[in-house]
Amino acid sequence: MMITACGSMSWLWPIISPPADYDQEAEDCAARIRQFSRIPVSTLLHLGSGRGHLDRRLQQHFTVTGVDCSPSMLNLARTLNPAVRYLLGDMRNGRLKESFDAALIADSIDYMLDESELLQAFVTVFTHLRPGGVFLTYAEMTSELFQQNRTTHSVHRQGSLEVVMVENSYDPDPSDTRFDSTFIYLVRRDGSLEIMHDRHQVGLFPRQTWGKLLCVAGFDLVREELCQEVLYLAGVRPI
Ligand SMILES: C[S@@+](CC[C@H](N)C(=O)[O-])C[C@H]1O[C@@H](n2cnc3c(N)ncnc32)[C@H](O)[C@@H]1O
Repeated sequence: MMITACGSMSWLWPIISPPADYDQEAEDCAARIRQFSRIPVSTLLHLGSGRGHLDRRLQQHFTVTGVDCSPSMLNLARTLNPAVRYLLGDMRNGRLKESFDAALIADSIDYMLDESELLQAFVTVFTHLRPGGVFLTYAEMTSELFQQNRTTHSVHRQGSLEVVMVENSYDPDPSDTRFDSTFIYLVRRDGSLEIMHDRHQVGLFPRQTWGKLLCVAGFDLVREELCQEVLYLAGVRPI
């Protein structure tokens, strides 16, 4: 038996989280963008575009520009979506010399660890949006909904490979704005077991912080809605 910390586990993700699993989320995002925008939407800036799983479907609705700070994630996204433009950049301070009709930061917003980073990301979006354009984001966790040591698991199979993923949420310091999301993977193949683990620090903010910072960045808050424990937010750059 092997126990492996972090390292290269990117090969596991297409098994745990295949691109098609993101189709409904992408359709929901596209519908919300069209619902709240005050201008016709043709171009979309997607910050923290990751492996491009959402873009696979979003590109059917918009001309997508994906930005991510990880070269390896960008390479995976380029392979999946050759027609999408992908650029290296940081959502906290990256600047492109162009504007977009709409912008999205999906689960990648989790990586903003304090209020100043969250505001920086919102300002980046504001800077790149046309007047009347909409910004959509969502918080998968808020301080109000956080449960210490919440632990879930899921089972994934591909051929003779079976992966059990256990996810634990733990906040070592409730006075700050972050918590640990720790993953343990039990990887079984042909009678062998390998145990891997991976730890992410992610942001944790009270619900009202999200709307407050969107307004500080300059947006009109047009939607703030809790839906199945996910807080959806839409802000429009005033015309
Ligand atoms: C969970 S993945 C996003 C997956 C994505 N929703 C998809 O459809 O494939 C999170 C991504 O956020 C990116 N990220 C984290 N911090 C970032 C930052 N400051 N600027 C840009 N990208 C960032 C990571 O590199 C990673 O690719």
